[in-house]
Amino acid sequence: MELVKTIIKMDEIVKDKQSHQQTIGYVATMGYLHEGHLNLVKQARNDCDIVVMSIFVNPLQFGPNEDFESYPRDEERDKQLAEDAGVDYLFMPTVSEMYPTESFMKIRVEKGTDVLCGASRPGHFDGVATVVMKLFQIIEPTKAYFGLKDAQQVAIIKNMVKTFNLKLDIVACPTVREEDGLAKSSRNVYLSEKERALAPQLAMSLNEAKMLMEKGMHSRADIISFLQQKMQQISLGKTDYVDVLSFPALEAKELLKGDVIVALAYQFEKARLIDNILVTIK
Ligand code: PAJ
Repeated sequence: MELVKTIIKMDEIVKDKQSHQQTIGYVATMGYLHEGHLNLVKQARNDCDIVVMSIFVNPLQFGPNEDFESYPRDEERDKQLAEDAGVDYLFMPTVSEMYPTESFMKIRVEKGTDVLCGASRPGHFDGVATVVMKLFQIIEPTKAYFGLKDAQQVAIIKNMVKTFNLKLDIVACPTVREEDGLAKSSRNVYLSEKERALAPQLAMSLNEAKMLMEKGMHSRADIISFLQQKMQQISLGKTDYVDVLSFPALEAKELLKGDVIVALAYQFEKARLIDNILVTIK
């Protein structure tokens, strides 16, 4: 595996691969790697000649009171995990390499941000779209792999690709979980022992909601109120949101039908966790 720190070097590598007609699979991350990230690499490895991963904690997508400074980082461990997973090139730019001048342009996401994480993290998806657009321009992937754990992010990036006619495929991959169902997340390290013991209730409640929907509970309001009650039973922390929307359009319809996402965010003391489940109602 080669470690790449500069955009110029990345350009050289990309040009060389393109001149040899090699396909590039790309996994964008903010590091502190876990099996969720590594599963994306596995997919990319299966499909493409070359696998590029980026690790960049993107300041643009963090709000002023969010955890940019304290976001977990471990470069050495990440390098080892990336290499073992079969990454060919690990792109790790500094903030000044990615944003050398004061920013004078960014992408504003106009649809799909008034719900879920977009509603509770204003500007977050503008920051995600801007950095992902830059990274796509630098790496020029044939296919880019994203996790459905961040389903709203997948929906927005797919829309961005469509809107700007970007010439790559977005591959959405399933959420990887701990044995007890908790969705893997870099932020899980910030859970206290007690919080960690309660955290699997998020995924459990989503599964129960799915079962209720499959048994015929098709009212959005009923499912939301069921989940709100479940969240209240987690005695530590606080519900950020619970919602049920069409997927991938992310629209609220009282009568649930077709592909639907049931999503929630829960704020523990130091970690805000998100999770979701996709349900198809016939
Ligand atoms: P990060 O949270 O590091 O996630 C990187 C990629 O891994 C995303 O596509 C995310 O959906 C996926 N991922 C994280 N946990 C997962 C899990 N348990 N199962 C499956 N996939 C999982 O998402 C970001 O970084 C950033 O917003 C980024 C796209 C890199 C832009 O800065």
